[in-house]
Amino acid sequence: MNASLMPTYSRVPLSFDKGEGAYLFGSDGRRYLDFGSGIAVTALGHAHPHLTEVMHAAIGKPWHVSNLYEIPEQAQLAERLVQNSFADYAFFCNSGAEANEAAIKMMRKHHYENGQAEKFRLITVEGAFHGRTLSTIAAGGQEKYLKGFGPKADGFDQVAFGNLNELRAAITPATGGILVEPIQGEGGIRPMEVEYLKALRTICDEFGLLLIYDEVQTGMGRTGKLFAYEWSGVAPDIMSLAKGLGGGFPIGACLATADAAKGMVAGVHGTTFGGNPLATAAGNAVMDVMLKPGFMANVDAMGKRLLKGLKAIGADHPKLIEAVRGYGLLLGIKTVVPNTEFQARLRAHGLLTITAGDNVVRMLPPLIIGEKEVDEAIEIVRTVATDWA
Ligand SMILES: Cc1ncc(COP(=O)(O)O)c(C=O)c1O
Repeated sequence: MNASLMPTYSRVPLSFDKGEGAYLFGSDGRRYLDFGSGIAVTALGHAHPHLTEVMHAAIGKPWHVSNLYEIPEQAQLAERLVQNSFADYAFFCNSGAEANEAAIKMMRKHHYENGQAEKFRLITVEGAFHGRTLSTIAAGGQEKYLKGFGPKADGFDQVAFGNLNELRAAITPATGGILVEPIQGEGGIRPMEVEYLKALRTICDEFGLLLIYDEVQTGMGRTGKLFAYEWSGVAPDIMSLAKGLGGGFPIGACLATADAAKGMVAGVHGTTFGGNPLATAAGNAVMDVMLKPGFMANVDAMGKRLLKGLKAIGADHPKLIEAVRGYGLLLGIKTVVPNTEFQARLRAHGLLTITAGDNVVRMLPPLIIGEKEVDEAIEIVRTVATDWA
């Protein structure tokens, strides 16, 4: 603990001075299997050779020039994101919350440009997490993040998870869009049904609303496809990205169709740092690796192997584990016992994980893991479960 740090986090008294692939080496002299990836960020693990090489080269070039000038690395990353998604444009920023801010502003501007400035409200879903800025805590709608920070920002209406009737009933002439995470991450790895996502698309088309997917956590290969929306076969109009996009370097992006981005012209939105040469060099290096044939197949295969192993442990220990769920390498163990205690015991056995809402322990390993790491993690979970029982 450092007395000079604002105490906004409850930290584990552990630091790391070396990382290699899926492993972190702690200040306590121990080796940890990192199945938290810094909350789904280090998608290619630690010290990935390609990322390291690209970033070494980028360090020797201008780090920052601002968006007053052209940035070839940024243009290249935008092109690649656009070519591999539904989108026509990418806007770069520095975090997930900022990507969502851009999405929310874009939705409002779109309707304003269409002469319907009254359509500024956004429907969101209970259990959501969209970030910690004033508008994203209002979008997330969770009392624990809103409390004490003054009146909730106007323009956000929340409906129950998975309830289409309630969602339809919440639409008014002031509604401009719907914002969802295809799989709620912080909310406890709660996947939305494919049929539900398809219905959201239909509803948005019927009522002239923009569909916004927050893929800050589910995007960049986490579920075994580059973007989780691909599983449902229907695309959003706007999508936010961050986390895995920079492989550990802070970068966010907001992708959109040309129609949704109507009105996003010079001067209406911006950021000093967004998409700078260092950040977009990292993004391109991540894309180099993720777009290679076989990358997503590995995420899918390792995800299935991990899911199967965890489900088997759950079946053997129903008093400890209620359910195991998720897609790809975005998996959650809903524990019966306190999730924080389960997580602490896993860490004591050398496995790092992340907790989430709904009493869930999240498994977010780097996407480059192989069978050895998956089996090692399963073994640790089994040991903890057996010892506990
Ligand atoms: C789905 C989702 N959206 C937005 C955010 C906020 O991202 P950031 O912490 O980079 O602002 C997060 C972070 O956990 C997230 O999981």
